[in-house]
Amino acid sequence: TSLIVVDRSGQEHLLEAMDGRSIMEIVRDSGIDELLALCGGCCSCATCHVYVDEGRASFPPLSDDENDLLDSSSQRTATSRLSCQLIVKGAVAPIRVSIAPAD
Ligand code: FES
Repeated sequence: TSLIVVDRSGQEHLLEAMDGRSIMEIVRDSGIDELLALCGGCCSCATCHVYVDEGRASFPPLSDDENDLLDSSSQRTATSRLSCQLIVKGAVAPIRVSIAPAD
């Protein structure tokens, strides 16, 4: 599955979304350094905030923890997710995410 990541300057990056990896890991491994992911993917820091522009149905719904953390962000929108919680799993539709502005 292809993954398009839009960074904070608006530049698009075309990446490969490998099964079993989180969007956060894929973005970080690609060299894009805008996702701090301070907690390392434990759903406790909210510094991996992205907007899922396309492919939302490929991921499970928000957990209560994720929802609470996103509520602490002033940048939350209807498409907000924590990218460490977005595990690629047999997604067939292309995925497009934009990195949210820093809080
Ligand atoms: Fe901390 Fe996602 S990396 S909540």
